[in-house]
Amino acid sequence: MDKSDLIILGGGPAGYTAAERASAGGLSVTLFEGRSLGGVCLNEGCIPTKSMLYSAKLLDGARHGTPYGVRAEGASLDHAAVMKRKNKVVKTLVAGVAAKMKSHGVTVVPRNGTVVGKTPSGFAVTDGEREYEASRLLICTGSEPIIPPIPGVAEGIESGFVLTSREALELTDIPKKLVIVGGGVIGLEMACYFHTAGSHVTVVEMLDKIAGPAEAEISKVLLGNLQKKGIEFKIGRKVTGVTPGKSVTAGDGAIDADKVLLTIGRKPRTAGAGLEALDVFIERGSVVTDRHLRTNVPDVYAAGDVNGRIMLAHTAYREAEAAVSHMLGRADSMRYDAVPSVIYTSPEAACVGETEESAAARGLPFKTVKLSMRYAGRYVAENEGGDGICKLVVDERDGRLLGVHMIGGYASEIIFSAGMMIESRLPADALKKLVFPHPTVGEIIRESLFEI
Ligand code: NAI
Repeated sequence: MDKSDLIILGGGPAGYTAAERASAGGLSVTLFEGRSLGGVCLNEGCIPTKSMLYSAKLLDGARHGTPYGVRAEGASLDHAAVMKRKNKVVKTLVAGVAAKMKSHGVTVVPRNGTVVGKTPSGFAVTDGEREYEASRLLICTGSEPIIPPIPGVAEGIESGFVLTSREALELTDIPKKLVIVGGGVIGLEMACYFHTAGSHVTVVEMLDKIAGPAEAEISKVLLGNLQKKGIEFKIGRKVTGVTPGKSVTAGDGAIDADKVLLTIGRKPRTAGAGLEALDVFIERGSVVTDRHLRTNVPDVYAAGDVNGRIMLAHTAYREAEAAVSHMLGRADSMRYDAVPSVIYTSPEAACVGETEESAAARGLPFKTVKLSMRYAGRYVAENEGGDGICKLVVDERDGRLLGVHMIGGYASEIIFSAGMMIESRLPADALKKLVFPHPTVGEIIRESLFEI
């Protein structure tokens, strides 16, 4: 029996961050990861897609350079080279995580761990061969794509006609006609890459807007931009059937496809880890946690997608830290009210905090300021015909920021500062005294503050 202070199930962003912090805090740690360190984020999510989208962005820049005085006739995308570079990026970052685990003295077990029960001194976990024991347990088993019980989907997956994002990131050939089911974050990012790479992309979304919970106007501007590129959208149409090798059925029509990509959401991965052996409380598929990431079982914590709170890698990092802080008796807790989210489409969309709808639903006294991104000099310099917007939701009493929503280049990098402004709870008068570098697109926030 191998003993440690903490066993972590899953080596994604939550698991490896917790391992690093716990080890730095003096705990001995055993981390189980049956696939690859880095989890979905590094291996088949955030990082590979960003690597591919950057290649697409470069090609878009070359193709549409004429208004900027740039001519690059014959520019094209070498998908094989893009994939090769993507794999290299992933390998580098996964190796970086492995090196970190090593330097922190974390024992990494390259197999999945299953909880077998509670012992007088802690929790027993097996990897199928050996038993391990620890006084604390952190569940970081992540999430997996939702596969809907739509007729033809299971058969389509078997034949390779229907893909999830995992398989889409391994495609060696660009499909001529790609139908993407679900106009959420993954669907839209994938649509941008495959469109630029040469597919005719049709996105089918059952709701009346794309980009899920994104602010309504941001979603509308994003839709307009993506349609202008040539991506086709079927909005308000639910996919109800798939004919493998041929088409998908949406509403009363069929859409021809060479491949179908399913991006209708992800669900926490709670099966297979033996959580039932401890009676860990699971509600609507998610492990229920409090602000210290504690489950209902003393000394059992859950961080990252598995708790279904906000399924983003950066939430997972902070949750992992808050969980470890609690284990170490440090004052800390997780706050979810200023977690930024980004859609890495072209243009990017980013938001943090309240929308008008959520502020109204909470009965907050608020007002809204909306400004064209063209109020920022750098945006005008770099975006011919750009129609980006920035929207602030502010407390109507003192102008304190409650939410920021933006669409336009660099939004992903700017949104962090907006999150800090929300977290700081400073009134608008104080925020106006912050010095922003000029010229930056981020100055749009400063401009907007003066419109309150
Ligand atoms: P999502 O929940 O963002 O979007 C799924 C969409 O599919 C919804 O708009 C839904 O209405 C639609 N849908 C469901 N069933 C349908 C049907 N039968 N026909 C047509 N439309 C249908 O899910 P997605 O894009 O798969 O992303 C999953 C998770 O991954 C999210 O939790 C997201 O936060 C995370 N993620 C975040 C990224 C980022 O922050 N940039 C990037 C990639 C993933």
